[in-house]
Amino acid sequence: MSQKTLKGEKLYEGKAKILFQGTEPGTIVQHFKDDATAFNAQKKGTITGKGIINNKITEFVMINLERIGIPTHFIDRLNDREQLVREVEIIPLEVIVRNIVAGTMAKRLGLEEGRRLDRPLIEFSLKDDDLGDPLLAEEHILSLDLADDEELSEIFDMTHQINDFLRGMFAGVGIELVDFKLEYGRLYDEDDAGYVLILADEFSPDNCRLWDLKTGEKLDKDRFRRDLGGEVEAYEEVARRLGISLETEE
Ligand code: CDP
Repeated sequence: MSQKTLKGEKLYEGKAKILFQGTEPGTIVQHFKDDATAFNAQKKGTITGKGIINNKITEFVMINLERIGIPTHFIDRLNDREQLVREVEIIPLEVIVRNIVAGTMAKRLGLEEGRRLDRPLIEFSLKDDDLGDPLLAEEHILSLDLADDEELSEIFDMTHQINDFLRGMFAGVGIELVDFKLEYGRLYDEDDAGYVLILADEFSPDNCRLWDLKTGEKLDKDRFRRDLGGEVEAYEEVARRLGISLETEE
C-alpha cells in the first residue's frame, strides 16, 4: 500500500482530522493527524504517531460494529493515516455515552470521578466549537429540529447496542469503557428520495475514556488533558490489547 492516495480537494480541517473529497462520488478520505487539542482547543499539542493508531483503532471498531449489524460510514483503510468513508450529512449532535462518571459530568454535577452509573447514560450536546458544545435536552433537539423523533429513537437504540458491544469488547482485554462520543450522519439514496442513519466520524482513545480494569491506569486522551505523559504508549497499549498491528508504512 502506498502512502499516496488519490483524493480530491480538501473539504475541511478539524482538530485531529482532515477530510478530502474521495475520487468516487459520495466518498470522503478521512486523514488522521497527530495534533491533539483539549478543553475546546485551549490546550494544543502533538502526539507523534497518534494519527496512525487512531486510524487503525477506528478501522477495527467500525468493522466489528458492522459485524453486529450497525451501519457505519467506513469503507476501507487506504494507508497508515487515511481511510475511505461514505459522505453523509452529519447530524450536529455529539452523542455521549457514560457508564462511569468522569470529566465534565463529574465537574458539572459535583460528583466523584469513578462512580458507576446505575444504567448507561446517553447525553447530547450541540456540535459547535465556538459555543463549547453545550449540553442539550432531547426537547431542544426536537424543538430546534436538529433531529426528529424517529431519528432520536434510532440513535438511542444504536448507541445502546454499540455501548453493550464495545464494553464487552474492551472488558475482554482488561479495559473499562468509561465514556465515549459518537456522531451520526444521514446517508441519502442516489436519487435523494430517502436516507438511512449511519455511524460516522471515528472511535479512538481521542474520544473515549479507557481505564485499565486492574490498575485504573488511564489509556486515553486524559493523559494529554491532565499532563500525565505516556500518551502514545497508552494508545499503543489499547491497539496491542485489541490485537491491532501497528506496523507502519511511513
Ligand atoms: O472530555 P471532557 O471532559 O471535556 O467532556 P466529557 O463530556 O466528560 O466527555 C465525555 C466523553 O466524550 C469523553 O470520552 C470525551 O473524550 C468525549 N468527547 C469527545 O470526544 N468530543 C467532545 N467534543 C466532547 C467529548
